[in-house]
Amino acid sequence: MKTLIAYSSTHGSAAESAGFLAGILGDTDVVDLKKGDANPAGFDAVILGSSVYGGQIQKEVKDFCKKYLGILLQKPIGIYLTCLTEERDEVRRFLENGFPSEIVGRLTAFCTPGGAIYFTKMNFLERNASKILLNGISKSKGAGKITDGKTDYVTLSKEKLEAFARRMAGNQERNPS
Ligand SMILES: Cc1cc2nc3c(=O)[nH]c(=O)nc-3n(C[C@H](O)[C@H](O)[C@H](O)COP(=O)(O)O)c2cc1C
Repeated sequence: MKTLIAYSSTHGSAAESAGFLAGILGDTDVVDLKKGDANPAGFDAVILGSSVYGGQIQKEVKDFCKKYLGILLQKPIGIYLTCLTEERDEVRRFLENGFPSEIVGRLTAFCTPGGAIYFTKMNFLERNASKILLNGISKSKGAGKITDGKTDYVTLSKEKLEAFARRMAGNQERNPS
């Protein structure tokens, strides 16, 4: 059972998640959509991964869905979104605004494993913008400052990714093509 993992990431957490899922699932091709393309036709299942910025999924993932929609609708599809919110309604909006409704309506698995802000890899401007954003999210929830803008902030959950991989693998065993 061969799975395509096609993802787009800016600072690495969606990429890390793709690598982690590939390690669990085994027979996979992992494609960074910022660098390349892959036709999903030759795969038994497809996982789409994207990070979220300003409420939007990555453009490359949207373009991939448009380009291969007909083929994608014939496969078991899983989606994971790396982001920092845990609000269900907000996550639902990311999904519904970012992906064609035909895909959202027939998902085999979906997961938001958390996210990461790697301050140590950012330049000055990115660090400041991210620090303001993160402390702003925290303040809007009535919580205090959560980052000093220097230490990496990571909420990625391996357990959530493992559960997602199990759902994908289980579906493929039940529905061999
Ligand atoms: C400028 C900026 C905007 C962001 N906007 C959102 C957002 O709208 N909602 C959210 O839940 N997380 C948001 N995040 C958090 C990212 O989704 C999170 O850091 C994610 O893990 C990044 O993935 P990547 O490392 O693959 O790019 C934002 C982060 C930054 C730096």
